[in-house]
Amino acid sequence: MSAFLEIKNVSKRFGGLAANSDVSFDVGLGEIVGLIGPNGAGKTTLFNCITGFYAPTSGDVLFKGVRINGLQPDAVCRLGMVRTWQKVRPLAKMTVLDNVMVGALVRTHSLRVARQVAQEQLRVVRLDHKSHFLAGSLPIGERKKLEVGRVLATKPELLLLDEVMGGLNQAESEEIILLILELKKLGLTQVVIEHDMKAIMRLSDRLVVLNSGEKLAEGSPTQVATNKDVITAYLGEAVDA
Ligand SMILES: Nc1ncnc2c1ncn2[C@@H]1O[C@H](COP(=O)(O)OP(=O)(O)OP(=O)(O)O)[C@@H](O)[C@H]1O
Ligand SMILES: [Mg+2]
Repeated sequence: MSAFLEIKNVSKRFGGLAANSDVSFDVGLGEIVGLIGPNGAGKTTLFNCITGFYAPTSGDVLFKGVRINGLQPDAVCRLGMVRTWQKVRPLAKMTVLDNVMVGALVRTHSLRVARQVAQEQLRVVRLDHKSHFLAGSLPIGERKKLEVGRVLATKPELLLLDEVMGGLNQAESEEIILLILELKKLGLTQVVIEHDMKAIMRLSDRLVVLNSGEKLAEGSPTQVATNKDVITAYLGEAVDA
């Protein structure tokens, strides 16, 4: 059986810069795979290549066995794969509920159904009490939850989270960690980019490390956290689980 998501020899060049070079790995149904590496390693670029925001310069992306490179992001989203953005930009002058309804409208033309889906997802991300606030008024921790709610409303099977804990304090990060684990229990497959090693080790079934656009290592969290090349390129020292 083929993997749920297959990344096959993906390269992405920007002029002379190789942001991704020949990157390959699989994600199995129901897994959480952590994607880590130094700033500029190519993590966000890879998410862009996987979700149709960039066409890979070469290589293939297969989702549920179907080759999807060349598809636009909205088509990829309708197939069931959606990503969050590292720099969250909600529709600031719309309410929290309306922002999430925009996601829900990917699957329905009915405003009534979209509102219902949005309300459900706001409960999942624990933001229902802020439904009628303007999105622009939310502090960063709640903006990150809104971003997750917005993509959950598209009813994904595979979720790609780009530094969803970036800029959050410990209590807020803990809430997001619990949310990600809750989504896993609900059967959602996830690829998570995160710089906090303790958090990503706790969340992930497997880790993939990028460095200078190339895959440097792949394995269990403990294998990766004690890998000499990973320590040299990224961690500085071994990290305990
Ligand atoms: N649209 C673009 N045009 C030109 N260069 C780009 C573009 N997007 C990314 N890059 C470059 O590609 C490299 C990889 O960037 P990317 O944002 O993918 O890294 P990252 O691993 O997500 O880093 P961070 O941890 O800081 O978010 C960087 O050198 C970046 O400057
Ligand atoms: Mg990034």
